[in-house]
Amino acid sequence: MTWRVPYRIETERLVLRVYEVDDAEPLAAAVNASRAHLSRYLPWARGPEDLASARRAWIKSTRNEFDSGDEYTMGIFAREDGRLLGGTGFHPRTEPTRLDIGYWIAADARGKGYVTEAAAALTWVAFGLANARIVSIAHAPTNSTSAAVPQRLGFVRQDEPIGPCTDGADSVEAVVWFAGPEMLAREPLASIPRPRAFDAAGREMEWPA
Ligand SMILES: CC(C)(COP(=O)(O)OP(=O)(O)OC[C@H]1O[C@@H](n2cnc3c(N)ncnc32)[C@H](O)[C@@H]1OP(=O)(O)O)[C@@H](O)C(=O)NCCC(=O)NCCS
Repeated sequence: MTWRVPYRIETERLVLRVYEVDDAEPLAAAVNASRAHLSRYLPWARGPEDLASARRAWIKSTRNEFDSGDEYTMGIFAREDGRLLGGTGFHPRTEPTRLDIGYWIAADARGKGYVTEAAAALTWVAFGLANARIVSIAHAPTNSTSAAVPQRLGFVRQDEPIGPCTDGADSVEAVVWFAGPEMLAREPLASIPRPRAFDAAGREMEWPA
């Protein structure tokens, strides 16, 4: 199944968009500078130095996956100056109507609410444009900064086994938070403006009335 996911999303402070090949260097630099902060929960950040050359190939594969609807990987950029701040996106999950949001932020961009702003925009997009019926966010039980993101947005925690995730050297049962479309009418999402969204050709996507 392919979802109607924008290729570019604009919020008050951020641009979330598919990576372009020119993002390879800033992406590798951000991962290298953030390794200590990312590696406990993100196994892909544990390898040897992140190389721009490898990132170029990776970016091409994420673009192919985006086009085919297998995964929707996006960078998080500052609207003000285009600086790369982190990564996010949707993982389509087993249920045909569920999108899972993932995220990471560079060490020097933590603590500014960027990830919460990105996750709010993706929640709007998931229900308003992509036709998801469930949005989820999963994390390791000890990952309290990750847990705080869905909590701030009013997601509801569900205590049922959902599958494993990584915590250091261990594989642990993930904690999962859910939202349904009705949450767009509730605070805090109701007061967060809908983001602007653009398709692959750069055309602005209309929100349903
Ligand atoms: C999980 C992770 C993405 C959270 O990043 P974060 O910077 O804490 O999240 P946000 O960008 O939403 O920022 C929230 C913080 O900014 C503060 N903040 C400042 N301005 C804000 C604003 N306008 N809106 C919301 N929060 C704001 C909040 O109070 C909060 O600070 P606190 O933790 O001291 O309470 C980050 O810790 C990370 O990259 N971890 C490693 C990778 C990882 O674990 N990814 C998730 C795997 S499931």
